[in-house]
Amino acid sequence: MKILTITRPDDWHLHVRNNAILRTVLPHTTQQFARAIIMPNLKPPITTVDQALSYREEILQAIPNGENFTPLMTLYLTAATPLAEIKKAAESAHVYAFKLYPAGATTNSDAGVTDIKAIYPLLAELEKQDIPLLIHGEVTREDCDIFDREREFIETSLTQITHNFPNLRIVLEHLTTLEAVKFVEAAGKNMAATITPQHLLYNRNSILTGGIHPHYYCLPILKRERHRQALVAAATSGNPKFFLGTDSAPHLTSLKETSCGCAGCYSAHAAIELYAEAFERAKALDKLEGFASFYGADFYRLPRNTNTITLKRASWTIPLSYGADETRITPLKAGEELTWKLQ
Ligand code: NCD
Ligand code: ZN
Repeated sequence: MKILTITRPDDWHLHVRNNAILRTVLPHTTQQFARAIIMPNLKPPITTVDQALSYREEILQAIPNGENFTPLMTLYLTAATPLAEIKKAAESAHVYAFKLYPAGATTNSDAGVTDIKAIYPLLAELEKQDIPLLIHGEVTREDCDIFDREREFIETSLTQITHNFPNLRIVLEHLTTLEAVKFVEAAGKNMAATITPQHLLYNRNSILTGGIHPHYYCLPILKRERHRQALVAAATSGNPKFFLGTDSAPHLTSLKETSCGCAGCYSAHAAIELYAEAFERAKALDKLEGFASFYGADFYRLPRNTNTITLKRASWTIPLSYGADETRITPLKAGEELTWKLQ
């Protein structure tokens, strides 16, 4: 196959930050995706509808001229979120979900939730208002090994949440384990999941062999090869519970290449090409369109896009970095070849 045309995809998990970084990264997303679920973990976090609306305006201002792109806003759930804010979000035309970060689980999650049981009234309200809950599914207990944190979260918190709120629509974000795949497959139709390009393409050796490679460090951390294989199988299965969410998470190169580097892989520069590579290796390019362009929209009850994008089989080298000196970001697969190119 030399040319691949698919319905324009959407990114159901994206970090674009704000200010200069926003202006650097957003054009990469808008050239391929029609819509994206925008993560609220700014400093300070986006916890109210009013904050989300002004952040949305800032994003709209950063869309390159002539591009059509719709940011789908989310709110950061905290123990202090008032029930009234959930009602207000339900009435808003621009807020599509709440995000649950266990406190301390990842970048800018300090304001997150320490005791999930304590926010059950909020989850009940989300269920009642029929607003999706997006979950960063990792426990943060110090005594829990970093490679076990997703599995542990599923066994403890998530099983309880789904049991107590059977009608709550949940997206378990950025799956990284075989156990997570099995859990989502077995759960009811209210449960879906996103999968990132890095978790389809790499395992933990990419971070840790031949030296430490900080640009492959994200959370949840890359796991063993057998987990990567389970994720590829899920993404290419045609099961609509699994859809595209890049978790593209830009951090300045200087803050990744340091003694305590930030978590997050930047993938927006070549997101659909990276997914195409993973699907092609699995001999499943025919399953890319459902995963990238249909199932997420269906889950969020939004219309599927009607226009298309075209990828061409043409090898190209990913730049070593993007942005000016003060916004320099090192992309995933920097300096390496890709086999598909967005036209
Ligand atoms: C994300 C970020 O940098 O905001 N980092 C990451 O490693 N994925 C946060 C997140 O989604 O966990
Ligand atoms: Zn994320």
